[in-house]
Amino acid sequence: MKHFFREYGFPLALFLVTVIAFLPECRSGRDNQPDTHLANTENEASEPPDTMWHGKNKQLIPGARDTGNLIWYGEQLIERTSYYLGPKGTVAQITNGLNCQNCHLGAGTLPYGNNFGKVYATYPQYRARSNKIQTIYDRINGCLERSMNGTTLDTNAREMKAIYAYMRWLGEGVPKGKAGSGTGMMKLPYLDRAADPVRGKAVFVANCQTCHGADGQGQLNGEGTGYTYPPLWGPHSYNDGAGMTRLGSFASFVKNNMPFGTTYHAPRLTDEQAWDVAAYVDSQPRPHKDQRADWADPEKKPIDYPFGPYTDSFSEKQHKYGPFKPIKAAHEHKTHLQP
Ligand code: HEC
Ligand code: HEC
Repeated sequence: MKHFFREYGFPLALFLVTVIAFLPECRSGRDNQPDTHLANTENEASEPPDTMWHGKNKQLIPGARDTGNLIWYGEQLIERTSYYLGPKGTVAQITNGLNCQNCHLGAGTLPYGNNFGKVYATYPQYRARSNKIQTIYDRINGCLERSMNGTTLDTNAREMKAIYAYMRWLGEGVPKGKAGSGTGMMKLPYLDRAADPVRGKAVFVANCQTCHGADGQGQLNGEGTGYTYPPLWGPHSYNDGAGMTRLGSFASFVKNNMPFGTTYHAPRLTDEQAWDVAAYVDSQPRPHKDQRADWADPEKKPIDYPFGPYTDSFSEKQHKYGPFKPIKAAHEHKTHLQP
């Protein structure tokens, strides 16, 4: 026995130390990968299995071959849009310097990070804003014109084909017509009061301005080819026709994703802070888009769409900042009364 320990004591101790050191590692890794060998531990009993949609890692894009190259280029266009299409773009100069990834985190792969998990499965679809059936190409162009305050790409452009190919690849395996859990954004419940830009400013100063700047203009990278921290308002930001100008979209995005590094597992802002900071940022100046052609049927405008005319009696201000519950109740009452 004594001999055994002299011979094997050190390797044995090393083995035990390694096992102990890696145990917590295995457990926290469960978030990302199914970990079957832990399946029946007490841990598993207390936490339901992770059914969230996670986008595939870009390293899994099929190598070489034409399709693989196109998908890869599409991923790069989402991640480094400004490098290709920004004000100093190497391919064209048609966008404001943001990257798609600034708002579609992890190139559209993160649960509740405004991801692309339901895009291939749910388009073409009817959209009330344009009052027609929209394809994936239309939707991409919508973000180019509004979120990127830029101009559209032709459906036959290599860049458009590449972004499409990437979205199709990401959506492989998602059943047609289904929006799985974790896709897109997690809708934030309405507050009982209006969102407050004054309180929102305090939230911004305490939680956002270190990165996005006290003036909200973000921070350019060293070469000036794009942003290290993207702007939240001003001439280089999304225009007033973009999805982020709806308080509900902004608040839902920020709640689960900001300050940068936040995930839906551990949001750092309360719901009130998320709504208030949305009110502050979306009350700042930004480029204007002519939206007279939108919402041919004003009845279908979302509750938090900030521009009239409306078919109800609530003001533009209430449609922008809330309280939203009375508007929702009035709309539900109306549909209820319809034959
Ligand atoms: C400033 C933020 C922002 C930027 C930049 C941006 N988007 Fe979006 N995008 C949004 C928001 C907000 C939505 C709407 C989400 C919602 O309302 O569910 C959206 C929706 C989409 C959708 C539809 C998603 C779905 O599930 O229906 C697609 C596709 C899309 N964006 C593609 C792009 C592409 C491609 C780019 C870059 C060329 C881009 N976006 C840049 C904010 C942005
Ligand atoms: C630690 C730095 C950091 C902090 C703090 C931070 N952000 Fe961000 N934010 C980022 C980065 C980086 C991105 C772009 C993400 C990417 O490209 O992957 C971003 C993107 C955004 C976007 C979408 C892109 C755009 O420019 O419109 C919004 C909106 C946003 N942040 C709002 C906020 C708000 C509101 C707060 C405070 C509650 C906040 N952020 C705090 C770093 C930060």
